[in-house]
Amino acid sequence: MTNNSGGGQPVSMENARAVAEICKKHGIRFILDACRIAENAWFIKHREAGFENTTYREIAQQMFALADGSIMSAKKDALVNMGGFLALRDLDLAVQCRTVLIVTEGFSTYGGLSGRDMEAIAIGLEEVFEPDYLNYRIKSTAYLADKLYALGVPIMRPAGGHAVCRCRAFYPNIPLDQYPGQVMACELYRLGGIRCCEIGSVMFGKYGADGKLIPAKMDLVRLAIPRRVYTQSHLDYVAEAFGELTKHRDKKSGYKIVYEPPFLRHFTARFEAV
Ligand SMILES: Cc1ncc(COP(=O)(O)O)c(C=O)c1O
Repeated sequence: MTNNSGGGQPVSMENARAVAEICKKHGIRFILDACRIAENAWFIKHREAGFENTTYREIAQQMFALADGSIMSAKKDALVNMGGFLALRDLDLAVQCRTVLIVTEGFSTYGGLSGRDMEAIAIGLEEVFEPDYLNYRIKSTAYLADKLYALGVPIMRPAGGHAVCRCRAFYPNIPLDQYPGQVMACELYRLGGIRCCEIGSVMFGKYGADGKLIPAKMDLVRLAIPRRVYTQSHLDYVAEAFGELTKHRDKKSGYKIVYEPPFLRHFTARFEAV
């Protein structure tokens, strides 16, 4: 949470409770991916009935209370540049994981991180729940989303923790097996130096028995906005770059994949323009 492949949309407490119940019933551990737990708490407080007077931190605590454990990529809601952790209620399992940690990353007191990074994580986890920080964060994402919408760029609405464009509608002339999402990602970089990420048929597409692409359900492009980095004028610049993209969209063609590894191809695939 929030839902990374679905436009940064939040997970409600009601949804999390229902999942926890199903897991409990079937004896399955419920592990939260908590990397955007504070952003998720903002949405719960402002959208889900019954949480108006609960603090962001308390909402996160209620979520954690439902789970058997949690993984955290700290470069998101711990507001740092690197690191992460795994937290577990089951001590026996934790001991097994610590043993693997020692042989793979480092001793359990630092897990491959430097002391400075661990201190920064501890501070980031406090600061991320400050209302002023969270308001600025969520509202600047919504600000960019509103600007893109006003430009006629099809996006997922309401904006989640990130702004995300729906590219099938942006490039209706590009067939799905020529990866319209990838076209947007490349064009944004070419025109504006803006790096973003296709979350569509490059990432989730599969091949059928006939070797033809079975496209993903959605072809999105994710504009993941770094925390505490950009000002309003940076986001205005991103919107301007989209304005340029809009001018040329009818003339664009797609891409084909010329190299892909057996798994997780979106990280290292290579493309050629069709
Ligand atoms: C929901 C979610 N979980 C985990 C990760 C992986 O994080 P890391 O790069 O720190 O391994 C990401 C990265 O984008 C993410 O969005």
